[in-house]
Amino acid sequence: MNIVSPSILSADFANLQKEILKTENFGAKWCHIDVMDGHFVPNITIGAPVVKSLKNAVKAKLDVHLMIENPLKYIPDFISAGSDIITFHIEASKGSASECIKLIKDAGKLAGISIKPGTPVNDIKEYLSLLDMVLVMTVEPGFSGQKFMPDAAKKIKEIKSLASDKLIIQVDGGINADTAKICADYGANCFVAGNYVYKNPDMENAIKSLLAV
Ligand code: DX5
Ligand code: ZN
Repeated sequence: MNIVSPSILSADFANLQKEILKTENFGAKWCHIDVMDGHFVPNITIGAPVVKSLKNAVKAKLDVHLMIENPLKYIPDFISAGSDIITFHIEASKGSASECIKLIKDAGKLAGISIKPGTPVNDIKEYLSLLDMVLVMTVEPGFSGQKFMPDAAKKIKEIKSLASDKLIIQVDGGINADTAKICADYGANCFVAGNYVYKNPDMENAIKSLLAV
């Protein structure tokens, strides 16, 4: 069964708990939290205190996507806050990727690395056997509601051919039932969706369509 991780970036922040509980009721088991620092990406969102508040407010696994410079410095805060899955960007880790993975794994959390659309799979090849998840970005990170980039998704095939069957392959950016199907055919099994879930008049159908691809 696929994992669906609705991105709260498209949710109503004034009613965050209610919004996430709705997605849980329709079958979403993860909750995707986009952390942006205004440096690695040109946007600022939320930080560890919000993760901490959500920890006891929802049942979904807290799937934290760090779009920040110097992830090594901030990973401990996100561990203490109660993140279940922590993903950082290889482009931001500047030689500290192994240390980042070790910190996350030693805390008993799932570790993920993300690559931007222009980053080759070769840049993360040496870490694949240490990771629980790879996040393939199918838009430039920074904003929700962008258009899916089909060429970026093709990297899923390459990752699938290199990694063990246990590796979770997550996609993020412009995901809906159609683009998720393209990614699933390449080997992805975990779908992040912001607008498609939270701005959808039929949220139940949106989540179920992603579970079913
Ligand atoms: C973008 C974020 C995404 C974003 C996805 O940088 O990483 O998680 O919220 O939004 P949609 O699904 O609307 O493209
Ligand atoms: Zn994300």
